[in-house]
Parts: sequence; structure tokens; C-alpha cells
Amino acid sequence: MENGWFLDDALNHIFKNNTFAETHKSLIYEIVSGVIRWRLYLSAVIKSFARRHIKRRLRNLLEIGLYQISFMKKPAPFVINETIETIKHEIGREAGNFANALFRWYIREKEKGFDFFLTHLKPTPVKYLSILYSYPEWIVRRWVDRFGVEDAERLLSSSNRPSGFGIRVDIERITRDEVMLHFSEMGLNVKKGYFLDSAFYVDRLQPVIEDPLFKKGLIHIQDEASQIGGSIIKPRNGEIILDACAGFGTKTGQIHGESLNATIVAMDREIKRLRSLKKKGGIVAVLGDGLSPPFKRCKFNAILLDAPCSSLGIIRKHPEIKWKRREEEVLSFANKQFNLLSSLWEHLSEGGLLVYSVCSFEPEETVGVIELFRERGGSFLLEKPLPFLFNNGYFLSLPHETGMDGFFIACLRKI
Ligand SMILES: C[S@@+](CC[C@H](N)C(=O)[O-])C[C@H]1O[C@@H](n2cnc3c(N)ncnc32)[C@H](O)[C@@H]1O
Repeated sequence: MENGWFLDDALNHIFKNNTFAETHKSLIYEIVSGVIRWRLYLSAVIKSFARRHIKRRLRNLLEIGLYQISFMKKPAPFVINETIETIKHEIGREAGNFANALFRWYIREKEKGFDFFLTHLKPTPVKYLSILYSYPEWIVRRWVDRFGVEDAERLLSSSNRPSGFGIRVDIERITRDEVMLHFSEMGLNVKKGYFLDSAFYVDRLQPVIEDPLFKKGLIHIQDEASQIGGSIIKPRNGEIILDACAGFGTKTGQIHGESLNATIVAMDREIKRLRSLKKKGGIVAVLGDGLSPPFKRCKFNAILLDAPCSSLGIIRKHPEIKWKRREEEVLSFANKQFNLLSSLWEHLSEGGLLVYSVCSFEPEETVGVIELFRERGGSFLLEKPLPFLFNNGYFLSLPHETGMDGFFIACLRKI
């Protein structure tokens, strides 16, 4: 990941090229994602113990040990011994002694509180919260300015809590109760969705991926907020619908449902993504750029623009986003989203519906895009996406309020 890989890609790559027991895979996943999530906190602990430069491999092993001691229900003496043995074996005796002193100091001092080494920072909330919750300062500043310290803390904390994995059930073919019972009998923890009859959550993904229900396409891996985004467009007979940034086609399949008499055009700029899209009757995959769509006079009855975005709403699932994103990117995504919306609008028929969604709740990428579009002459009526989580004409999910991913939806009816 230090070489720029995404967490899931890096781990899938490692798992594909090595043999690990299933239980070890989930342990590795938890430790790696946890260390990435808590990196700033962990490195600040190490720095406050020793101000000297620490080489990368030793630092990584120290962070792995500290993470397990602080955040996992593993007996500290066991973790300490195991980590010290590894360090002595890989790096040397002196490094092992250093680690031993660090771990013992940390355990002793932590009794004073999780933030014992940060108390001198308390008057400056941004820096303090940034280390305490392990986020870059620019994200903390944004959220504190917008929500106030108390709510920002709830948001920072809930975006650090690994969520359950959202599953969508194809309820036209099987009931959610049947599927939930099936997985709970297999020993998984299952929980109903907050809003949708099609949604439920599981605590582990691997058994789901290997299950015949998944292989037969009766269930799909998809967070509830994203399911809401894909559930709004309901094609009628003879209609032609555009899924303009279809990616791997999670929402394309959902829009298509079982309607064999509508055509869904799934477009994306990346061939690699389109290749994994599940083809079925009525779905046409098109390689194309939404900024200059490859359609001449064609007008669509409805368009889904599930736009590329900063992804700050899905940090709890992809903690590396904290460190990969830079603040300037929020604005450059907003520009791109506005341009995509403007060019796709030309291909929407009069009276047609454009659903705009992003897995972000940053104002520039959400309300800002829609308002700018109206100012520049976009002629539309805002429709209520759903009867709930309705916020000034939009659907807005904030993870600390809804339990779902951060997500935004606007429904624009062309007039
Ligand atoms: C948020 S993801 C879409 C996720 C997808 N709708 C789903 O439900 O799984 C955004 C997608 O937009 C695609 N994309 C980015 N820029 C694009 C452009 N100019 N034209 C078309 N697709 C684009 C990316 O390749 C990516 O697959």
C-alpha cells in the first residue's frame, strides 16, 4: 500500500499468490486495515516515545504490534512476545529491546487515557482530533467547520468503525428472511437493513462470496446507501436507460431487475470495469466518455450518473482514502461532476429523470454541483428521491446519523 495500491487490491493480490487458512485471511485483513486506519495515531505514539528516525520495516512492525494491543481483543503479553521475536529475528536484538521498552511504556501510560500523550494539544481541536482519530488535518478542519466539534467527533469516530458488509437480496427471486436464516445458520452475524427490504448486513464476506446464492446472482455485495441510489430508476416497457458511469455494473443489474422489455446502456470509460459487468438480455455495454458521450441524436428516458468522487463517504470501508486524497481533489472532482452532468443532460429526453449520486457528502460535490447547474441554465425540478432522509430536496446519508455509507442523491426531472 505504501507503493500506492488500494487496500482490497493489495490484499487480494497477496491472498491469490499465497496459501492462507480462511481464519488467517480475516485476521490479516483486520490487522492491515486497522493499521492503515489508525496510522497517524500509531505513528504519533511511537514518535512521542522516541524522537529518533525509525526505518520503515521496524516502524511497520511496531505499528502492527501497537494496533493489536490497542484495538484488538488479543492478550497484550502474547502480542508483545510475538512481535518482539519477529523484530529480533528480522532486524536484530537491539531493535527487539527498543520494541519491548516501547510496548511496556505504552501499556503503562495508556491507563491514564487513550490520549495520554496528546493532552498538551487539547486547546487546538483540529490537531488534537486529527491525531486522536487518525485523520489528515484537512478532513478534520472541514468537518469541524461544517458540523461543529461534537458532531465532527461522532463522524470521525463512526467513519473509523469498520461497518458490516451490506448485501442486496434479489427479492423478486428469494426472500431476505430466507437468505438471512441461511447465513445465520452458517454462523455469520446478520442484521436487517435500516431502510430497504432488500438490504441486510453480515460480519464476514468470504463465506458470502463462496456461497451458491451469490454465484447464482440471487444476492449481491452492495451497501444499503448504494442500493438506494440504484433503486430509484424503474424502467418501463420499451424505455432506454443510460447508466453513465456503470463501473462493474452493481447498479446496472439493479436497474435492469427482471425487466426484459427495456434497454439499459451501461457506459464506462474503463474497459477493465466493463469487462466484469454481468451481461444479460437488455443490457448493452458501451465503452465511452461521459464528457463527450458517443451517442449522436439518441435521447434516454432516464440517466443514472453515479459520478466519480472523493469517496470520503466510504472511509470506513476503505481507510486508505484518508491518506490518498488531497484537499484540492475535492474541487477537481466537483468540476468533473459538473461537466459530466452538463454533457449527459443533452441526452436526456424532455420529462426524463436524471439521478445524480456520489459516495461523498462534501458540499462542493453534492449540493454545489446541482446548484451551479441550475445557475448555468439547467432547467429541472428536484424530485424527492425517497420518502426518508430527505434533506432540502436531496437524499443525504451521513454515516454517524444513518449507520450507512456516506451518500448523496439528487433526482432532476427535465422540464
Ligand atoms: C462511483 S464509480 C461507479 C460505480 C458503479 N456505478 C457501481 O454502482 O458499481 C465511478 C465510475 O465512473 C467511471 N468514470 C470516470 N470518469 C468517467 C467518464 N468521464 N466517463 C465515463 N465513466 C467515467 C469510473 O471508471 C468508475 O467506474
